[in-house]
Amino acid sequence: MNQGKRVGIVGAGNVGATVAYSLAMLGSCHEIILRDNKIDVAKGKALDMSQAASAVRSHTVVSVAEDMSDLTNCDVVVVTAGSPRLPGMSRDDLLMINAKITKEVIGGIAKYSPDAIIIMVSNPLDAMTYVALKESGFERSRVIGMAGVLDSARMASFIQEKLGYGGGQIRASVMGGHGDDMVPLPRYSTVAGVPLTDVLTSSEIDEIVTRTRNGGAEIVGHLKTGSAYYAPARSTTIMVEAILKDTKQIHPCAVYLDGEFGYSDIVSGVPVMLGANGAEKIIEVTLNDIEKEMFKNSCDSVKSLIDTLNKNNFFKGE
Ligand code: 2OP
Repeated sequence: MNQGKRVGIVGAGNVGATVAYSLAMLGSCHEIILRDNKIDVAKGKALDMSQAASAVRSHTVVSVAEDMSDLTNCDVVVVTAGSPRLPGMSRDDLLMINAKITKEVIGGIAKYSPDAIIIMVSNPLDAMTYVALKESGFERSRVIGMAGVLDSARMASFIQEKLGYGGGQIRASVMGGHGDDMVPLPRYSTVAGVPLTDVLTSSEIDEIVTRTRNGGAEIVGHLKTGSAYYAPARSTTIMVEAILKDTKQIHPCAVYLDGEFGYSDIVSGVPVMLGANGAEKIIEVTLNDIEKEMFKNSCDSVKSLIDTLNKNNFFKGE
């Protein structure tokens, strides 16, 4: 057990609260501190979760930070804060609003938990991870975006549904940004070690690739008023645990690229070894020409969001 470890969670909405609940049930850390502008809601959830932790004999305590200045000395801080897209709002409007929220939150984290590893969950994920890196001034190994674990889990679940067997034995692989042009990689996906291409036809695989890319939207289509949170939260917990337990396991994560795969000054999803120091190593998996082209398209999309931030002088002023 990781007694003494503190995990901060900024944003106690569906995703943030479910991350906290999941960590509390697993006893992954000693303390979870929730930070949300709705302080009373956060307090209610924290009490409820501490009591759930007691019910399962977990030692984890969930508390509330009334201000960012209470979010001190965290080992890991998960950032889920952000505005959802509202009617009449363009993607760029949402980008600017969430970038401002991220800037403010990250300023607080850098000040009060200067040694933390930051896990970004807010959307648009890759651009917000870029903002978090620039605004924190942290080394790139300590600012990591959650998306690939989720997108790979979605792909694995669709493979299981299509096959009708293999549950728990499927390893699916997704690279690139967390957007419509993410890069599911059937070539690197297996069922109990058997290549996907041996058990499914190419049209079945194409269907799974498309469904994976639309995985978030499919759930929004059902929920109508919100987006997914169980799988996003559990995927985040997997990353938090890999860091707290120093597992050195490989997970697809959004990180700043500095020459890897031929890209620089951009954030994209790639296989990363997670450990106590965060993103300790980027694994440069070999891509074929088609996969390279898809990865390029995905990086171009993220780049255009970063360009929009630059055009609006986001990194220069308030
Ligand atoms: C998802 O993929 C909205 O990014 C979120 O469910």
